[in-house]
Amino acid sequence: MAKLSLTSTLRMPSGYSIPILGYGVYQTPANVAAEVVGHALKIGYRHVDSAVAYRNEAPSAEGINTSGIPREKVFFTTKIPPKEMSYESAKKHIENSLKETGFDYIDLYLLHSPYGGKENRIGAWKALVEGVEAGKIRSIGVSNYGVHHLMELESYIKSTNEREGKDKGGCLSCNQVELHPWLARKDIVDWCNTRGVILEAYCPIVRATKSEDPLLLPLAKKYNKTTSQVLLRWSLQMGFVPLPKSVTKSRIEENAQLFDFELSAEEMESLDTGVYEPCAWDPTVSRD
Ligand SMILES: NC(=O)c1ccc[n+]([C@@H]2O[C@H](COP(=O)([O-])OP(=O)(O)OC[C@H]3O[C@@H](n4cnc5c(N)ncnc54)[C@H](OP(=O)(O)O)[C@@H]3O)[C@@H](O)[C@H]2O)c1
Repeated sequence: MAKLSLTSTLRMPSGYSIPILGYGVYQTPANVAAEVVGHALKIGYRHVDSAVAYRNEAPSAEGINTSGIPREKVFFTTKIPPKEMSYESAKKHIENSLKETGFDYIDLYLLHSPYGGKENRIGAWKALVEGVEAGKIRSIGVSNYGVHHLMELESYIKSTNEREGKDKGGCLSCNQVELHPWLARKDIVDWCNTRGVILEAYCPIVRATKSEDPLLLPLAKKYNKTTSQVLLRWSLQMGFVPLPKSVTKSRIEENAQLFDFELSAEEMESLDTGVYEPCAWDPTVSRD
């Protein structure tokens, strides 16, 4: 595979690039977010994954704004809250995210979950599309969408483009879902890969529950890496964009040291467990 580095990017369907390693800030308290985001940027991360629901958009943006790194060199994501999926609410949150962050634009705005029913899913998506048309957002996508949600959205985009003109339905760039060897989600991954939709991997180190795992320990030993680094390397080699979270400076650094080893094809296969073991919520299976 092509040599990866911390500055590697993937091209999204929108045409914009996304750095292959993100820095997640879920459960990062607002009073430390500016400092830890600043540290992540200092050591080379260029991608921060926040959300309205995390209540730390403003301090995360402060970490970016005070880093000395030009705004356009850092990729910032936020998300419409899961319980506030509607056209009106999404319009309001887009304005508010710009206000909170002080940014002229958001790099990637996602719908945090498919909850809320079809009308609200489509309504919230329309608000994101209008945000792109107004130059407030560069790329848009979804999170926690199962294949049936993705097909519903694709069908809306196609019919809107046919009826109202090219691009009027919007461009789906990304689906952010829990992904690791114990939750490989082949159906969602195939659907997205076929269409060039980027897969962002959340809980990429399974919330630090696999440090003694017998599948990982021999690989960690062989490469002189930690089990977390083996998991993150697996994610990168799967073509995903992993979003590890840590408020611990040494771990923020550890989680970025992934580019001096490569898992072999056999080793990648050995991590194909075939099991379904989410460590977080799983809205991809919701049927409302
Ligand atoms: N869209 C969604 O629904 C959704 C859901 C969940 C997460 N996410 C996104 O994905 C990001 C990551 O997910 P996550 O935070 O749930 O799980 P995660 O990144 O798999 O795990 C984070 C946990 O692992 C610890 N940790 C980090 N690096 C470590 C290392 N090298 N060694 C040992 N422990 C380590 C962290 O502790 P310390 O912080 O104390 O160091 C924290 O407790 C989130 O921050 C968020 O941006 C999105």
